[in-house]
Amino acid sequence: MLPVTLYCVTITLFDVTQNPFVYGEVVPAAAFVDRVEELQRLIQDLDAAQKIFLISPRRYGKSSLIRRALATMTRRGAITVEVTVSSFSSYVAFLEGYARALAAAETTWDRARSWLREAISSTRIDVGADSRAVAFPNARTERDVSRLAEEVFTLPARLAQTRRRKVIVALDEFQAVAGYNGGSVEHALRAAVQHQRDVGYVFAGSEPSLMERMLSPRRPFYKAGPVMRLEKIAAEEFAAFIDGRFTRSGMKPEAGLGAAIVELAENLPYDVQRLAHETWDEVRGRKRRRATLDDLHQALKRLLAEHQMIFEAVWQHLTLTQRAALRAVVLEGGRGLLSADVRVRHRLGGPSTVQRALAALVRDDVVTRDGDRYAVVDSLLREWVARQTF
Ligand SMILES: Nc1ncnc2c1ncn2[C@@H]1O[C@H](COP(=O)(O)OP(=O)(O)OP(=O)(O)O)[C@@H](O)[C@H]1O
Ligand SMILES: [Mg+2]
Repeated sequence: MLPVTLYCVTITLFDVTQNPFVYGEVVPAAAFVDRVEELQRLIQDLDAAQKIFLISPRRYGKSSLIRRALATMTRRGAITVEVTVSSFSSYVAFLEGYARALAAAETTWDRARSWLREAISSTRIDVGADSRAVAFPNARTERDVSRLAEEVFTLPARLAQTRRRKVIVALDEFQAVAGYNGGSVEHALRAAVQHQRDVGYVFAGSEPSLMERMLSPRRPFYKAGPVMRLEKIAAEEFAAFIDGRFTRSGMKPEAGLGAAIVELAENLPYDVQRLAHETWDEVRGRKRRRATLDDLHQALKRLLAEHQMIFEAVWQHLTLTQRAALRAVVLEGGRGLLSADVRVRHRLGGPSTVQRALAALVRDDVVTRDGDRYAVVDSLLREWVARQTF
């Protein structure tokens, strides 16, 4: 028998049956693009236990970036805790959830229970045996709650101390504190965090105007730490990534497909991934290998049909002047909306009426303003308005 030499070849196998594009949730590492500098900076600042503010409009990728930074910090031995501030229905519910998340980072729940009881003395605390629930049933008056908050906000430092590790806290959707008796939360939190040398914080917010106001002079968080304003991902890089993922998943993208997706989505990360995901499904559904611009248009048509009811409801909710202003934003590419010629063309009325309508659209998160340009937040809604309204 002839000797057989086996060569070991390492091949990276990509799952060709699974859609490589992800939207509507924090992106997994495999679908994460770019953000190299932002990530590096965030990690460096967290490592230095800074209190960082991360700001961007909705769906730019804050939570995904935070998740990656926390994963790195965990690998470096830090304890990381992530809480979405907007998911609670009251200030006390937030304090309960925050205390529970911090306590869950202890090695055992028994140890957590004992330091929670030590730390919270201003009000009754109920700590579940192993259900990992924390409740403050007696915190009712504003005074009770503010004393309790002071204690809860010291917990990260206590955790760092008992576990002798660095602690990183991410408070996502932080703008929601404004709803919980905003001013006092900001004061209490700022007062607590500034003394916590072993705890890094990232406060992430998706309503830039609210967040910027929170960082202005005479507000507690003024100059509390570095501010990162997340921009869009570089368009060419995103387009190349999209084409690359089609290829790796066994499809052959038509030249320019990635670029067309990025452009149609106005380069909003969520919208880019959504269009790419749905286009991929379109190709897979037809059992073909070539992914074409026509598939993209089919995917867009299907998405518009699926969103018809939602968009109709948005439209019904607008006043007539807001509808006209929204159409003008779409049809004029968001520019020159106050000029006489645009106002006449779209029957918009006087400049102050247009300004009021635009302000309402911005406030309701339908439209964003970037310098003197307005853009529809959701690129699907933009396409729907262009095609289905008159
Ligand atoms: N770095 C990235 N690479 C690729 N896609 C991304 C990236 N960041 C975000 N996305 C896309 O955008 C979507 C929204 O991301 P994410 O939830 O992180 O944004 P966000 O700014 O936290 O949004 P929100 O304000 O709604 O909480 C993701 O589901 C994904 O489709
Ligand atoms: Mg988020």
